[in-house]
This record gives sequence, C-alpha cells and structure tokens, in this order.
Amino acid sequence: MASLIITLLLLTLPPTSSLSSLPTKNPDLTKGKWKLLKKSIRVSAMHMALLPNDRIITFDRTDFGPSNITFSSEKCPLISDCYAHSVEFYPSKRGVRPLTILSDTWCSSGALLPDGVLIQSGGNNDGEKVVRTFTPCDDCDWVENRNGLASPRWYASNQLLPDGKVIVVGGRRQFTYEFIPKSLNSGDRKLLFKLPFLEETLRSDPFPNNLYPFLHLNTDGNLFVFANDRAILLDHVRNEVVRRYPVIPGGVSRNYPCTGSSVLLPMNLSGGALVAEVFICGGTVPEAIDKALSDVFIVGTKSCGRLRLNDENPEWEMTEMPLSRIMGDMLLLPTGDVLIINGAKRGAAGWNLAREPVLNPVLYKPGSRSFKIMNPSTIPRMYHSSAHLLSDGRVIVGGSNPNANYNFSALFPTELSVEAFSPPYLLSRKPRPNITGIEPGVNLVYKQRIEVNFRWKYDGRKVESGKVYVTMVAPSFTTHSFSMNQRVLVVEVAEIRRRSAENYVVVCLAPATAEVAPPGYYQLSVVYDGIPSRSNWYCPDEGACVEPSINRFLESSPHWPFIGGVGLVLTDEEEIRGDDGLPKKMEGVVLGRLLENGRDDGVLLAR
Ligand SMILES: *[C@@H]1O[C@H](CO)[C@@H](O)[C@H](O)[C@H]1NC(C)=O
Ligand SMILES: *[C@@H]1O[C@H](CO)[C@@H](O)[C@H](O)[C@H]1NC(C)=O
Ligand SMILES: *[C@@H]1O[C@H](CO)[C@@H](O)[C@H](O)[C@H]1NC(C)=O
Ligand SMILES: *[C@@H]1O[C@H](CO)[C@@H](O)[C@H](O)[C@H]1NC(C)=O
Repeated sequence: MASLIITLLLLTLPPTSSLSSLPTKNPDLTKGKWKLLKKSIRVSAMHMALLPNDRIITFDRTDFGPSNITFSSEKCPLISDCYAHSVEFYPSKRGVRPLTILSDTWCSSGALLPDGVLIQSGGNNDGEKVVRTFTPCDDCDWVENRNGLASPRWYASNQLLPDGKVIVVGGRRQFTYEFIPKSLNSGDRKLLFKLPFLEETLRSDPFPNNLYPFLHLNTDGNLFVFANDRAILLDHVRNEVVRRYPVIPGGVSRNYPCTGSSVLLPMNLSGGALVAEVFICGGTVPEAIDKALSDVFIVGTKSCGRLRLNDENPEWEMTEMPLSRIMGDMLLLPTGDVLIINGAKRGAAGWNLAREPVLNPVLYKPGSRSFKIMNPSTIPRMYHSSAHLLSDGRVIVGGSNPNANYNFSALFPTELSVEAFSPPYLLSRKPRPNITGIEPGVNLVYKQRIEVNFRWKYDGRKVESGKVYVTMVAPSFTTHSFSMNQRVLVVEVAEIRRRSAENYVVVCLAPATAEVAPPGYYQLSVVYDGIPSRSNWYCPDEGACVEPSINRFLESSPHWPFIGGVGLVLTDEEEIRGDDGLPKKMEGVVLGRLLENGRDDGVLLAR
C-alpha cells in the first residue's frame, strides 16, 4: 500500500525533463535567444513575406469571421464584415497597419517580384484565381486581380524565374503549372501546362501528401519539383521532365499534410563547378494523417535527405535531426546555416491534428553536417505558423492557428503574437562586421565588380582574409512550412584590402547569370569569423529594382502594368481579357509596358 502511494506521488510530480526544457534566467547564449516582439499583431501570421523596406506583410484567410483588427469605417462597406485579415508589421517600430484583402487568401502562395512588389496568388473559394499585389510604401494596400490565374490554385507553390516571371505549380486537384503574369504574347496562347508528376505523387484526394510542392530553381534554369517522396527536374519552358530523381528513402511523405520542409543549400559561387544541393527535413509516414483523424498521433520523422541536383547519378544522402518534427520551417541564415524552427512532434498538418509542439529550433551547418539544439520558445507554433529572416539577422516567428476560426480557448489557441529568435551569431562576444558602403551602388548588373566596404573593430585586431565571405539571401514567401524562393549565394570574392585601421573592402563579383540569381532584391551580408553583418538590400539586375520605401512605382516600373497602384485597371480586368487571358480590346490608354522574355518589348493597351 505504501509503495502504491509513493508511486502515485511520483507520478504527480512534473517529470524532470519538462523542467529542464523551460527557459531559464540565464540561457546558454550559444543556443540563441527568444524575445517577444509584440503580444498581438491582431491577425494570425499564416503567410509571411519581407519587403525591401523591411516591413513584414502577413495575412491569414478572409472567410474566417472576426480577427482582432478592424478596418476604418470608410473601407468597411466593401465586404460582409469589418475585420482585416492582413497587416503590415514593422519590426523595428513594432507598428501594425491593417491591409485590405477582399477575396479569400487561405493557403495561397507568393513571391517578391524583381521590382520589389509582392505578389500573392490563389487561395480558396472566391480567391482561388486571384493574383494580388502589394507595393512597398507607407500607405500602399493590396490590389487584387480577380482573373490573375488561369486555374484555381489552393496549396500551390511559387518560384521566381530567371526572366522575372513567377511560376505557380500545382494546388489542390491541379496537375498543372502556369506563369504570372499570364503570357500575353499573341503568338503564345497557351496559359496552362500539364504536369502529370503531381497526379503520380498524389496519395489520395482527401489526403494528398503532395500539396505545396517544394520548388527550387536549379543552376541551369530548370525547376526542381519535389512532391510527397519523389522529385523531378522540369524544363518549364518546353514543358518536359528532363530528369527523374530517386525516391527519397525511408517511406516518409514530406508534403502537406504530412508536412516537412525543404531548402536549396547555399551555393558557393567561388571557383569550380557550381553545386546545387537540396536539403529536405521532417514530415511523417503517409498514414499519419488518417491516424490523426482518429486521435492517434504518430511521432514524425527525424530524417533528412540531401540531394545534389546535377550529379551524374544523384543519390539521397540521409541523415537525422536530433528532434522529430513535422511542420518545421527551414530557413537559410546569412551565414549559410539552416535553422529548423516551429512545428510539432506528432500528428499531421490540418485542423487540430498535431500534438507536442517542438519548441526548440535546431541549427544545421551544411559544411560539417552537424545539428545543434537551440533554446526553446514558450509559444507553440503549430499548423499555420510561419517564420522569416529579418535584415538584422534575427528570425521573426508568428502565427499558429490549427482552429477553424480565431479561438482563444482551444487546445492550441489562435496565436497573434510575433517573436524574434536571435541565432547564436548575434549573441557572440565577437563583434559584427558593419557594412559602411557598397560601390558602385546597390543596383548592379550581372558579373559586375562590387566593392563592399565594412568596418570591423576588435581590440586592435586585424581581419584575416580567410575568414571573410559575402552572402546574398533572396527574400522568401513563407507559408505551410515552405519558404518559397529562398536562396543563399556565397558570392565570389576577388580580394580583401585593408583601407584604414578598422576599415576594409571586400571586392566581389556579382553572380554571373539570372539562372543562378534571378533578378530582384537580395539581402547582402559580410560574414566575418562566423558573424554576419546586418544585411543591406541589394539588387543584382540594374533596372529591375526600384528603390524601396519610396512610392514611385507608377513611374518607375514599366514591367508590371496590372499592379501597384493601377487599381482601376484591375477592376476592369474581366472586361479587357477573355477566358484565355488575352486582351480583347487593343485600343485606348497606354497602361504600361510588358516584360516578355526578360525584355521590355511591348505596350499593353486597354479600354
Ligand atoms: C482578441 O480579441 C478577443 C475578442 O475581443 C479578445 O478576447 C482577445 O483577448 C484578443 N486577443 C489578443 C491576443 O489580442
Ligand atoms: C567557397 O568555395 C571556395 C573555393 O572552393 C572556398 O575557398 C570557400 O571556403 C568557400 N566558402 C564557403 C563560405 O564555403
Ligand atoms: C474553440 O475550440 C473549442 C475546442 O475545440 C470548441 O469547443 C469551441 O466551440 C471553439 N470556440 C469557437 C468560438 O469556435
Ligand atoms: C555601423 O556603421 C554605421 C554608419 O557607418 C554606424 O551608424 C553604426 O553605429 C555602426 N554600427 C556598429 C554596430 O558599429
């Protein structure tokens, strides 16, 4: 009897393991640090993007009922209720501004265009064919084109291409891909391209296990497409599968709802052949979703695979994370390391289908292939959470809402907070290099010589050339554990010179081609001895980028006639285009020029 009482007492004590994982007063700074940035941004950050003016744009779904923010009364009559479901968040000032989206953005996709305009495509119901654009400026808002896509796209993925267009792949019951903007070249009437691979990798209609396919642009301009447990290399220009990769070993599904994550590892542009290597982590066995629906929450996988896309006989190199994870976000840091953050240990993606949040991020070093467990957050980031790298080197984390609406009393309540995770490099005693100028400027052309000036001050020590490198990070659009368009380039360095006591210049070469670095904005950092500088926004395709934070889109962007302040045209979109997406009338006002094949070679006319 006595022993039974003791056993019962022991069972009611908290297990020591949960005590040791609680954040302590003096966390080990080599394992990073968390900070609550804002208790509530008043919407749940299901989708997240960073603009070149350092604002975060986030939104969830518009058919949700109440959020925690309303429009001003003059905007309200347009829709059934007055709640906003998108906000702009300015991390350095913690400011929140409600934005107007009227059609449903639920489970949509996006990309930052070369000129710094954010596009976002598809969604559910009345949003499934909409393309929305957002120009970075202090009072800009979403502009919606209700006929932006040829096919409905719910759970599709996007990637920016070398010609500045965006490819949109898949979506629920969509075994096709298409481009934004739709082709308007009269010789090319095809808008939609078949991709049977998406049907081949479908597990079943209710439990597809291949949605939000992972897309990565290969160095030859072809698109790597991964769905479920298989991958191909797609020539999207000729609509041909040019390569089929081996099945990833382990019997694990990696895409929604058995959600894992994927990155293209940093590409080193110095010397020798370019290596493009994909790294996929997490996910779960195909049946995890069926089980979760009957309240059995299977532990997700620890397994990861690395695949070199251009090897003669590519093989998956398998490895294991220290923690099991589904719905993790894999983020590339300016050092080239990979942070795996958010998600849960058991279950699957979907409404309330996961258990045991994984509060500890894991840092992976691609060179040494080592993993390190970071300090934990206190806030579960389950289904519908997101994350993004900020220019200051921190990672912003938001969202989590596995509930059908905003619900603050559910098992995993709707999360409106945003946190910042500081990776260990921000907590080091070693000083950060400080970029003091980029010559000849931040708008550059391919192959151009760039001089990045930086200051580094540390007890009179001198910089050792071998410890300096420069990275360019492409901003991503993150949702459902996949950061679309994410890309890190380790720039080729020609020389490093000391200019004065604490001032240095690193002479680099801009990437050579648009296949390696699609036109658009990048965050450029100097990394010294493992510590990255704050990043500067930088644009490797002169002419394609507009200056961030300045509202001069109308004059300065000839490329995207339908967007960014030309809202009037968008409302007439259905009138000026037929079902094939081609303009019906070619008379009237010149709205802008159209970028075709990377060239500015036409004018678009409408009514
Ligand atoms: C959101 O709004 C609800 C209803 O007004 C309120 O109860 C809740 O505290 C708010 N939550 C946050 C995090 O602001
Ligand atoms: C990039 O490649 C060069 C040449 O092989 C090498 O010296 C350098 O260390 C690499 N840089 C990084 C950051 O891996
Ligand atoms: C919130 O979730 C709980 C548990 O799932 C449910 O019982 C409740 O009805 C939900 N509340 C709302 C407002 O949907
Ligand atoms: C970096 O340089 C800028 C301007 O040169 C200066 O304002 C800033 O204080 C410096 N920051 C650090 C951390 O040295």
